Amino acid sequence: MGDTSGVYREAANSGMYEKVSGLTGKYDNVRRYWEDEITRIFTRPYLAGLVAEKINNMERLRILDLGCGSGDGLELLKSVNAKDASLVDHQVSHITPETLGVYRGVDMSELLIEQAREVHGSNGKVRFELGDFSVGLPVAENDDSYDIYFSSFGTLSHLKDDQLVRLLVDIAKHSGRHALLICDWLGRYSYEWQELWQLEEEPNYMMDYVVSYIYPEEERLDKELDCLTLRLVSPREIVSLVERASAEAGTDIELQVMFDRSVFVGRHMDTGDYCKYCQPLREAVNSLFEVNLRTDLETLIADYNARDGFPEVNRFFEMYQMSWNALVRYTMDLLSHYDSEGNSTGLPPIPGTYPEIVQGMMRNMQNIVESCHWISVGDTRANIIEPQLGYALRELEMKLQKGLGCGHGLVGIYEIRK
Ligand SMILES: C[S@@+](CC[C@H](N)C(=O)[O-])C[C@H]1O[C@@H](n2cnc3c(N)ncnc32)[C@H](O)[C@@H]1O
Repeated sequence: MGDTSGVYREAANSGMYEKVSGLTGKYDNVRRYWEDEITRIFTRPYLAGLVAEKINNMERLRILDLGCGSGDGLELLKSVNAKDASLVDHQVSHITPETLGVYRGVDMSELLIEQAREVHGSNGKVRFELGDFSVGLPVAENDDSYDIYFSSFGTLSHLKDDQLVRLLVDIAKHSGRHALLICDWLGRYSYEWQELWQLEEEPNYMMDYVVSYIYPEEERLDKELDCLTLRLVSPREIVSLVERASAEAGTDIELQVMFDRSVFVGRHMDTGDYCKYCQPLREAVNSLFEVNLRTDLETLIADYNARDGFPEVNRFFEMYQMSWNALVRYTMDLLSHYDSEGNSTGLPPIPGTYPEIVQGMMRNMQNIVESCHWISVGDTRANIIEPQLGYALRELEMKLQKGLGCGHGLVGIYEIRK
């Protein structure tokens, strides 16, 4: 028999032999099936309108991704799909090779720009450049305006207030007749950093943010980690900063929607680095989405500890926690109504007093369990029912959040029209 070790060494060195899991890491299941997707769903109506307008004007879309990292924004935007696509369609995204003109990503990290070029280098419409947006919009003098000025995953929290205003003024001046501006910050009142909440909103309030969550718990505790200094924002602060920028630019930067993203599932829920009461709910939701893995649904039951002095935020979290737990408990109840032969002992009732969306998601889970409990091929619970519970919880977040800054991310979608 010939020596095969070289072949396996080659395969291992390619990186393609690494174990891929949705339970941890930058691209965990929550990132892919919750955070990316929520951003897409909120962006969809504005992107759909913009693309239709560009087509009517016989133009193609130009996108500028600020703080692009390794270029994930391109994938995120390209996968914003049409809302009412029928089951038979497979090409459902708004941004297609036909509608995309240019995507330009700018970042200050050489390493990430290099990585981005490696991943997307073969696409001729995609460019990555080094640049610093803390001193204004990183564009050349003769650079045409963009249709989308995009940022994602807390990127704008790298800026102090004056730097943010300057960037927004530059965007408002640089944009053409109609542009979309997607701004992404860290929410001031995310439960994962409850110990950092302040009774008075302090301007330019920055936190020391450690990326500890990418290490397993046993390694995390011994590591000396560098930290990022990131701005925590409330919607009130953002409104006033954007008003300032609009006035300075002489152009309205109009808010379309502001939403909280990752309310109980921010990355630091699992580390407890900034709130000793946090439970590892992200880990539990990651498990819901993981193929062939059953989740102990009790690990999803949330227990929010209120902090005195924050009545509006506490009220929101109380209501959110009750709704979240009611849906999880209802699903546990549903599962216990079927025996191993798939016989039902009757369905648990849905209380008519619960919020509409909670009742709706309970009915959803009822339909799912009723229609698939009999499937004997594959693990129906792990592969069909649990991911659907994940989507139902995600739906609760989208419908119940109030854009108070109670999520890991606070996202504002704006339009500029001239
Ligand atoms: C939270 S990461 C987001 C990366 C990427 N958009 C994603 O979706 O994964 C923030 C990014 O902003 C970049 N960044 C931070 N400050 C910057 C600045 N002043 N100018 C340009 N890029 C910056 C960082 O290098 C990093 O890649």
